[in-house]
Amino acid sequence: MLEKDIELAVKILKEGGLVAFPTETVYGLGADATNLSAIEKVFLAKQRPMDHPVIVHLGDISQLSRWAMDVSPLAFKLAHAFWPGPLTLILKKSSIVFEAVTGGQDTVGIRIPNHPVTLKLLKKFGGGIVGPSANRFGRISPTTADAVREELGDVVDYILEGGQSAVGVESTIIDMSDNQPVILRPGMITAEQIEAVLQQPVALYKRNAPRVSGSLELHYAPQTETHLISPEKLLDYLDQLTEFPCVVLARTKVHHEKVQCIVMPESASEYAHELYQSLRSADKMGVKQIIIEDVPLDSEWAAIRDRLQRASAG
Ligand code: TXA
Ligand code: MG
Repeated sequence: MLEKDIELAVKILKEGGLVAFPTETVYGLGADATNLSAIEKVFLAKQRPMDHPVIVHLGDISQLSRWAMDVSPLAFKLAHAFWPGPLTLILKKSSIVFEAVTGGQDTVGIRIPNHPVTLKLLKKFGGGIVGPSANRFGRISPTTADAVREELGDVVDYILEGGQSAVGVESTIIDMSDNQPVILRPGMITAEQIEAVLQQPVALYKRNAPRVSGSLELHYAPQTETHLISPEKLLDYLDQLTEFPCVVLARTKVHHEKVQCIVMPESASEYAHELYQSLRSADKMGVKQIIIEDVPLDSEWAAIRDRLQRASAG
């Protein structure tokens, strides 16, 4: 059955269609990275501005040299340490990479995702698959096939089922195209883990870095008004609410007459795993506000806090 699903997905990709695929981070909206009209369909489906670059997914590290040039020994070190896994490397692009993939830049984002279904798909397909997250531009990334159906069900040709994404937030993106490694988007692979492999410090991205679509302030956002509130101020905030009911996402149950509570996991990895599903559920409750209790400052929470800040930036 699964083999047949993958064969069908490969056929659709080869014919220029769109296939949503599971990864350990979030589901991607896939198209053949060498088919320009298929790539254009991805942008149209997501309603994503044409100058926002997309990631190319590969099934094997031996394919890297087809897509990227001048890959440094440090970049290879990261690839070997973390692939397949939730890390995207920004590298100098090779001549086969379309401008539509890179947003006109001379770099390309590449990742080998760690999901058995999609690794099989990539190996059978043999080439690169562009894959932005399978949501409409600016919205919450999908971590289940049902969430993909909700977001893009009418425009995607096929959805490969792969259960709930294990990690739950998008990959760490690190720019390795220059001498100084820079993290452009925090993910569950932390700066410390990367520094431990590189044996050198990495810089953190500047907020207004050009054309990293995740760097737009309002992103990964529910449609309900969303606020991020520190734990110390939470009860005062709830007391002062004039419009309710609201929903609170907090790591310890909140009892308050004006709110319902979604209890979030204690650990960062489990919190990340649940985050987008919880935001989706909260968004469907028809409440006045989604109120999120802020999370710890530790680096293992950096990706989660980044997404929470963006979700509440409106
Ligand atoms: O975990 C992930 O990375 C997921 C799964 C599906 O692999 N994909 C994902 O794709 O999050 P997307 O398109 O939603 O976000 C990719 C990010 C965007 O912010 C994009 O601007 C950035 O990667 N990006 C891609 N190529 C780039 C480049 N050459 N330079 C700078 N940023 C780049
Ligand atoms: Mg996205």
